[in-house]
Amino acid sequence: MQTNEQLLSAIENYLAQTEFPAEPELLYAPIGYSLAGGGKRLRPMLLMLSNGIFTDKIQHALPAAAAVEVFHNFTLLHDDIMDNAAVRRGKPSVYAKWGQNVAILSGDAMLICAYRLLGEVPAQLLPQILSTFNTMALEVCEGQQYDMDFERKPKVSVVEYMHMIELKTSVLLAGATTIGALLGGASEEDCRKLRRFAIELGLAFQLQDDLLDSYGGEELGKTIGGDILEGKKSYLMVTAMSRADEEQREVLRHTYKDAALAPAEKIARVRAVFDALDVPRLTEQQISLRFDRALATLDGLNVPDARKEPLREYARSL
Ligand code: IPE
Ligand code: IPE
Ligand code: MG
Ligand code: MG
Ligand code: MG
Repeated sequence: MQTNEQLLSAIENYLAQTEFPAEPELLYAPIGYSLAGGGKRLRPMLLMLSNGIFTDKIQHALPAAAAVEVFHNFTLLHDDIMDNAAVRRGKPSVYAKWGQNVAILSGDAMLICAYRLLGEVPAQLLPQILSTFNTMALEVCEGQQYDMDFERKPKVSVVEYMHMIELKTSVLLAGATTIGALLGGASEEDCRKLRRFAIELGLAFQLQDDLLDSYGGEELGKTIGGDILEGKKSYLMVTAMSRADEEQREVLRHTYKDAALAPAEKIARVRAVFDALDVPRLTEQQISLRFDRALATLDGLNVPDARKEPLREYARSL
């Protein structure tokens, strides 16, 4: 059995040996830049670890693992355009470095590359895996559109918000665990449980991403306060709105678009309201709740406990 560290380097090596043509440079260079850009490789790790629960021959899962990572990076190229985000993983985003048109087309090409990698799964599993992937990919688009819609929507409930992040973030993690399990020959019931695990893990993960967007440090490699400046309905924002008095609500509603304020001042004002309403602690509570639920689902898998341990250990390390 491989350690999680060895698994990560197997994924890195596989991605690194995936070659792209040199020309046209503005199509392919951003793809290499994005894939070499130091992501955590969360989704391929989940796919490989889910696979490893059911089989010791995990090598054949690498193309599908690469497919979900390439797909994820494609979503980031377009997401940074949509979120107006100039920094990703501590470096200029593709959109900031090469412009919007390049980020659109290189992103499209990455989506196609993801499908090409997926085409390498064993033929008898291809229909089911392709169908899982397609449903997942469309749901990510749905979530991404809700995310954009919510920026303009005056009132977003916590329930609506949780549905949105389930689509934009969790379903990709769930696609990864499901495909890994299918490739390992898991039962339908175990596939379902691993899906549930990943949905809850994804919710915790996106809540953490929201929290760090407003309260993290520069080491995150993103511009801190980006969600506040974009007027995002993050978990922090929807929670704050549900608890705010009229005066606080005004600050939450209008600060981000107040042309008279500098960005740092906007962030400080909104954070002051979050702090006053205890929003960071409430967010942390929700993260723990979702994370515990994820781990509890893992306990229910119908395999010897030792086989779940690598995935459990990996989830904890997040
Ligand atoms: C970023 O995902 C997008 C979200 C769903 C929050 P990751 O934080 O997994 O991005 P990388 O690939 O590790 O940079
Ligand atoms: C990203 O959500 C979700 C997708 C890319 C589909 P975010 O917009 O919150 O991710 P970051 O914060 O830019 O990484
Ligand atoms: Mg976004
Ligand atoms: Mg974004
Ligand atoms: Mg974010």
